[in-house]
This record gives sequence, structure tokens and C-alpha cells, in this order.
Amino acid sequence: MEQTQDYDDKLVALLEVLWGDGYLSPGGDHETALVLDGLDLRGKRVLDLGCGTGGCAMFIAAEFEPAELIGIDVEAGVVAKANDNAVAAGLSDRVSFLQIEPGPLPFPDDRFDLVFSKDSIVHIPDKHALARELFRVLAPAGVFAASDWMSGSDAPPSPELLHYQQLEGLGFGLASPDVYFTALRGAGFEQVSYVDRTAWLAARSHVELEDLDGRLRPVIEARVGREFLDHEVEVWTALCGVFDTCELGAGHWRAIKP
Ligand SMILES: C[S@@+](CC[C@H](N)C(=O)[O-])C[C@H]1O[C@@H](n2cnc3c(N)ncnc32)[C@H](O)[C@@H]1O
Repeated sequence: MEQTQDYDDKLVALLEVLWGDGYLSPGGDHETALVLDGLDLRGKRVLDLGCGTGGCAMFIAAEFEPAELIGIDVEAGVVAKANDNAVAAGLSDRVSFLQIEPGPLPFPDDRFDLVFSKDSIVHIPDKHALARELFRVLAPAGVFAASDWMSGSDAPPSPELLHYQQLEGLGFGLASPDVYFTALRGAGFEQVSYVDRTAWLAARSHVELEDLDGRLRPVIEARVGREFLDHEVEVWTALCGVFDTCELGAGHWRAIKP
């Protein structure tokens, strides 16, 4: 379970202007609520895998009233920021964030009732090992509910997809929905389901590209500098291309530990 890229200060600053404070992925509170649609989390123990700066976790804590929410992430900087955000929001009695090493999850068996994750598993190459860990840390009847980015198929990546990945510089572990289905079912999960969000995300990415190079340029350039922003405009241009061909996709996962 490796990750090679830093969500460093500049990238975090740009993403939070684009996607909202505390969010390093698109869709904000609304998309987080969709991932959790229909679940009752009152009094439950929740893990947020790849919590970033904590926007999803704090929204879940405030709106879904779990007993406890622990966010984990491999990046020290985002974890520190998430903990500051929890204190500022008055949620630090129920919400905490921990830096972890890639690899087995640092929790005992049956520790959580729900594992949530938003657009982070894409960075973890071994989906099978991860699915076994998710299954292990969930209690019986526990739920896995996640959003993620995936490859459209298991075909070798096109030059366009390789170009996007190289520009982005993120440690990608892209896999197809088929790999996720196999990994989750193989780990023992039941009622595994998937809702495709590619069309929504593709349309949204085009709007973001216009914003990055248009109305948001002054505020983002003031925070991250022109060179970095110009690079990210290139990244978004490549991103829109691979969403348009559906070589890159996104969607919501749900699975139950029997
Ligand atoms: C796209 S961001 C999403 C953050 C947050 N879930 C959100 O929606 O705002 C992906 C996050 O996954 C984290 N990450 C990458 N590899 C990880 C791993 N092996 N375990 C936990 N987190 C990881 C990154 O550091 C980053 O904060």
C-alpha cells in the first residue's frame, strides 16, 4: 500500500480553493452524503481511510452523529491540518486524525462499524490486501462505503492516460471496477455494489478547468504562484481528456461484512 506523491502545501491550497476548505476531492458535503446515503451512523464507530485535511470526516461527525470518528492518512501535513480543523470546529472530542504508514491498518479486528473513504484508495496499489484489511477491522454487519477513481478497464493505459499520470505526479494505483469487485468479494464482503459517477465527474472537471484558468486564477495564483498553477492547468487539461474517453472513471462502492 504505497503512495509516492506529497499532498504538499501548494497542492492542498489549490485543491481547497477548488473543492472547499477541508476537501481534497470533488463534491464536498453533497458527494460525501451521497456515499453514505441511507446509512444510520448514530452511535457508530467510523474510520475515514485517506482523510486528507478532514472535510469529509467533520461533515460526517456533524451530520451523522457517530460515537467516534478516526481519520487516517499517510501525509503528516494533512493530518496536522485536519486535527487543527477539528479543534476549530469544536469536534475534537469525537473526531481525531492519525498519521499512519502505508500497509496493514494499525487497528485490532472488528474495531469499526463503518469504513468510509473518499477518493483515496486510488493511491493504494494492492486492492486485494486492502480489502482484506478493511474486512478485518470491520465488525460483523459493518459497512464499507467509499468513493474512488478507477481505470475504465484493465487494458494497458493509453499514452494519454500515462501522460496524465505523469503530469499529476501522484502515486497512482489505478484499477478497474472489476478488480474492486473481485478484491471485495474475495475478502469476504457481501452485497458489493457500485454506482458509476464518471459522467458527473467528467462534466465537473471541465468546469474546474475553466475556473482554474479563469475566475479562480487570481486567488489561486496569489497562493501557489503562477508556475504551479500553469502546471495544474496542464494536469486538468489531461484529466478532462481521459475522463471524456472514460479511460478514467469514478464511482461509489458499498459492501457489507456478514
Ligand atoms: C484525493 S485525497 C482525498 C482526501 C479526503 N478523503 C477528501 O476527500 O478530501 C487522497 C488522500 O489519500 C491519502 N493517502 C494516500 N495513500 C494512502 C494510504 N496508503 N493510506 C491512507 N491514506 C492515503 C493522501 O495522502 C491524500 O490525503
